[in-house]
Amino acid sequence: MLSSATLNTIAEQLHTAGWCAVDDALPKLAAHRLAAHAIALPDAVLHRAGVGRAAQRQTLDTLRRDTIVWLEPNNPADAPDQLWLGAMAQLQAHLNQHLFLGLKAYEAHYARYATGAFYGRHVDAFKGQSNRFISTVYYLNADWPSDANCGGELLLYGGLEPKQHPTHIAPMMGRLVVFLSEGTAHEVLPALRTRHSIAGWFRRGSS
Ligand code: OGA
Ligand code: MN
Repeated sequence: MLSSATLNTIAEQLHTAGWCAVDDALPKLAAHRLAAHAIALPDAVLHRAGVGRAAQRQTLDTLRRDTIVWLEPNNPADAPDQLWLGAMAQLQAHLNQHLFLGLKAYEAHYARYATGAFYGRHVDAFKGQSNRFISTVYYLNADWPSDANCGGELLLYGGLEPKQHPTHIAPMMGRLVVFLSEGTAHEVLPALRTRHSIAGWFRRGSS
């Protein structure tokens, strides 16, 4: 589970900067259990995000190439999914208590970027169009180098202040990135080897 130091760091940095990245967010054993689970998911279980109509499919291909599967809140309590959803329930309670965000729900999916896969520049929520409020990305790649050698970096253009020059974040095992969904543009550079993560969103409204 998340330590109180990690919870406090996330709340403080969200408040002052609108984003943060923390390493070793979960205990190593938990991180490795989630990574082993994500890596073992058969390709057949993962699917392209979004709907599959031909015209939309083409747009999708130029925007993103990852494959995903949603975490299942109804899985048994000892399932790996619950490890992550439990940690995020903890974060939700902490952010509501300390920043009065009124977060109501959390959903998340495993994402696999095959070699060459990317996600072009986008925002996870447009003002007024969605109640996605906070985005989370947790990385599950053991031995991912901290430099740009393997591609797959997250480029973050925002937070509270839009940035001309993005922050580069390597998808290293155990690293958690949290940012305001509205108005934080970001992208994933083409991965040069298979890249595993859990992306998720806290919502404020009830829908
Ligand atoms: C997303 C996303 C970033 C990443 O899934 O919406 O932006 O680093 N992911 O995987
Ligand atoms: Mn995104």
